[in-house]
Amino acid sequence: MADQTHDHLQTLREMRSRAILGGGAKRIEQQHARGKFTARERLALLLDEGSFQEFGALATHQFSAFGLDKQRFPGDGIVTGFGKISGRRVAVFAQDFTVLGGSFSEVQAQKISRIQDLALESGIPLIGLNDSGGARIQEGVRSLAAYGEVFVRNVMASGVIPQISVILGPCAGGAVYSPALTDFIIMAGDGTMFLTGPDVIKAVTGEVVTAQTLGGADVHMSRSGVAHLAAETEVAGVALSKLLLSYLPQNNNEDPPQIHPEDPPNRMDDALNTLIPDDENQPYDIRDAIAAIFDHDSFLEIQPAFAANAVVGFVRLDGYSVGVVANQPAFMSGALNIDASDKIARFIRICDSFNIPIVTFVDCPGFLPGADQEYGGVIRHGAKIIYAYCEATVPKISVVTRKAMGGAYVAMSSKQMRTDLAFAWPTAQIAVMGAEPAVRVLYREEVSKSGDPAARASELVAAYREQFFNPYRAADLGQIDEVIEPRETRPRLARALEVLRTKVQQNPPKKHGLSPT
Ligand code: HXC
Repeated sequence: MADQTHDHLQTLREMRSRAILGGGAKRIEQQHARGKFTARERLALLLDEGSFQEFGALATHQFSAFGLDKQRFPGDGIVTGFGKISGRRVAVFAQDFTVLGGSFSEVQAQKISRIQDLALESGIPLIGLNDSGGARIQEGVRSLAAYGEVFVRNVMASGVIPQISVILGPCAGGAVYSPALTDFIIMAGDGTMFLTGPDVIKAVTGEVVTAQTLGGADVHMSRSGVAHLAAETEVAGVALSKLLLSYLPQNNNEDPPQIHPEDPPNRMDDALNTLIPDDENQPYDIRDAIAAIFDHDSFLEIQPAFAANAVVGFVRLDGYSVGVVANQPAFMSGALNIDASDKIARFIRICDSFNIPIVTFVDCPGFLPGADQEYGGVIRHGAKIIYAYCEATVPKISVVTRKAMGGAYVAMSSKQMRTDLAFAWPTAQIAVMGAEPAVRVLYREEVSKSGDPAARASELVAAYREQFFNPYRAADLGQIDEVIEPRETRPRLARALEVLRTKVQQNPPKKHGLSPT
């Protein structure tokens, strides 16, 4: 009897050892030679030591066509299970490029679906480490259908549990869409994402591109807006996913964890009182305000290089997670355009899904004028910002630092769009449009008929500025709740957020709204 038990254990141990080797020692060597870690090494970087519980280590495909019978590897090119990050439970999967290029198979789908289901039922975030050549070609329609299994679960989990995708190698063809359905994409190492590869593009269009110029981190961080964060190395990319998770709750029924606050909430920074330049058209970097107002070194900027005219990201105030949305006067004068609208709207919805209050800093001359923008649908894109702010039920606070002109005033968390508290700095300018264009529209005849049109125009401009280029008219009307010294912003926000922490607001019951797309 004892011998039999010994045999059983021996068999299990051998099978597990084989599974741990993925595609075999030679393939692991190749992976390392490319400067890449294996799936298991990546999971070891991600998870608290000893916390990983694997499921499905022995699952293997059952196909024989195209020589697949000679390429059966336990685990089938993916490692799945549960573990902990800083003591918090997470569901994880890591694609194993050493097995058939990490290609996506029916078994991979079964394994991912299993942990997606368990993660959703238990309210646990899901992190996927991607490294895959796309649908496993040999499996034909089965591998295509398999994607659908994962996609539907990505969508069902959307807004319930945080979903983070880290791209650490090729993410080709159908492999791109599961990450695209998750909340955040982090690109690291030599990760690339593209729907159709360089070979296909060359064959169809004659265009010559490389995987990196087509879908490397630079492209997706600055041009396409597909990725949210990037890191040079795999180690740094995995570390970013952990940092990002620290701002998020386990699920939409919980609040994000408060970390032990090191920075006193009542701290004031006098430098803020002189941050806004005397010349109103002079740029300044809104990230300096964010750094001075929130907890030291707590700002994790999301999509920093895409639509840099808007700044979004997570910060902490008194140790609590806060989502920041801001115009960036240092880039395109902070004007809103199509890409900035998409970036802001999505970020607001993420914060709202995960119970993260939103603080908005407004310094925006309005929407960027131009035929390109109109043809590109700036109307429907800009509408997304309005929709997202109106729909969001988390605490919302706005701070007008300088320009809040026209559409920008309305769209950027204006009071009527269920913003809880609106602050303004004394430098705020709240008007329908700038002084010169306003005078041109209102007083064309009067200016042209005057003896000295230039002098009359500048008098009228001065009167308009006197009337509107301050926060006090808006404060008179209650559109601004309080005009504050910039240095007071941190304590004001901390106290306001403390009051709003128990805010309860509900939208009317509906199947779902129809956010402009
Ligand atoms: C089966 C694959 C595979 C795939 C790679 N491999 N991709 N096997 N199905 N999709 C295998 C290779 O044959 C090779 O096996 C091993 O993985 C490593 O691949 P290499 O090509 O040697 O690696 P590399 O040079 O780094 O190139 C990686 C790559 C390239 C860029 C991912 O393999 C590639 O272009 N693959 C195909 C990508 C693609 O077009 N996928 C889309 C599938 S269609 P051996 O044994 O020779 O070493 C799709 C549509 C779904 O996904 C749509 C759903 C919405």
